Amino acid sequence: MFKRIPGTRDILPQEMSMWHALEQAARRIFSLYNYAEIRPPIIEEAKLFDRSLGEFAEIVQKQMFVIKHGEDTYALRPEGTASIVRAYIENNLDKAAGFFKVYYMGPMFRLERPQKGRQRQFHHIGCEAIGSSAPGIDVEVIALADALLKEMHISGYRIVLNSLGCLEDKLALTEILKKDLAAQRGDLCQECQSRFDKNILRILDCKNDACKEIVKGINIGDRYLCADCKVHFTSVKEGLDALGVVYTVSPHLVRGLDYYTRTVFEIKHDSLGAQDAIGAGGRYDNLVEELGGEKTASVGFAFGVERLLLVASEIPVVAPEKLIYIVSMGDAARYFSIILAHNLRRDGFRVDMDYEGKSLKGAMRKANDESAEVVLIVGDNELAKQSVMLKDMRVSQQREVPVANLGDELKKTFATS
Ligand code: HAM
Repeated sequence: MFKRIPGTRDILPQEMSMWHALEQAARRIFSLYNYAEIRPPIIEEAKLFDRSLGEFAEIVQKQMFVIKHGEDTYALRPEGTASIVRAYIENNLDKAAGFFKVYYMGPMFRLERPQKGRQRQFHHIGCEAIGSSAPGIDVEVIALADALLKEMHISGYRIVLNSLGCLEDKLALTEILKKDLAAQRGDLCQECQSRFDKNILRILDCKNDACKEIVKGINIGDRYLCADCKVHFTSVKEGLDALGVVYTVSPHLVRGLDYYTRTVFEIKHDSLGAQDAIGAGGRYDNLVEELGGEKTASVGFAFGVERLLLVASEIPVVAPEKLIYIVSMGDAARYFSIILAHNLRRDGFRVDMDYEGKSLKGAMRKANDESAEVVLIVGDNELAKQSVMLKDMRVSQQREVPVANLGDELKKTFATS
């Protein structure tokens, strides 16, 4: 017996309507904000992620699914932003499109210790706006994330906002933290002690209680932000206020990926416990240049679909077309039914049938299990008259209908439901 790899899931047919509802809500909102879909490959050169996320980022150090093939090292993508920036540069989209707004949906892979809301294969719904440093775009992207959650009928979330500043400001913040934390370095958790030299910003959002206490004691404020980055951050906050998007500012929000500069945000849902981020994003004004393109300011976000599903209680699911089930008695009637099903499907009806020659009772039970609204019964009698017995399952009434009128009769039946 083969089993799923830990941290992966089979998304079963009965769960699919929720997935479709989320995806449809996302597509609708992305379209309203004029984002077009992009589908980069799931497998990339591993170096792309080392470069983008930072070689000391936890994802790169511990969580990448790496595949060695001869001289080459590939990785299953742990996130989408790096691939999209690669695609932007490789396809010369900077020349073709200038400002480029795209969205994406699909699986991501991180070799994490699985737990509730944390999987090794999970899915992102995200977007990237590449080509502008205007604070209005940060506002658009955060407002879009908020609109998406509202469209999905998700409530009870908090948007947490911060600015990391430009590269120089990030260095200044690093220096401030090195100075302020030096005396307590030995009291930090093991992980944070090793972060001290390589990735000190991450100490700010460590979940360990001792680290949280130590960090609470330092007054970070916005003293590391340069004048331009302060103006940018103020404009983003003013823009969100003007749109009525509710957020809180936290100087402790730093994010785990190296590419972020200026605005960063996380959307948290307290019902989720330790893994409380349902989505996150921010600016990455140097990444295009870092990966070989022109300097191009950009911003984006990604939601974790599995976490959205954990907090979504009442997504309006789009009902499928009503189902017609054909039951036939005898080989000749079954042959006739196969053609009938084919023709009805061609005319836009949703049709299934019994191919196995079940008894009338067995076939009716199957129709019931499939929630068919109409059953068409075909026997020798009907076959001779080129008609079918149309049974309306909701009222348990049946009538004989000539095949020539069947389309109209079905439409009439469904119209009265
Ligand atoms: P991220 O915070 O690493 O950001 O991932 C975004 C979201 O994916 C998280 O908030 C969470 O909901 C979900 N997620 C992450 N890891 C897992 C996991 N192991 N299992 C289940 N869900 C998970 C990014 O990936 C950035 N690329 C976002 C971005 C786009 N920034 C700018 N543009």
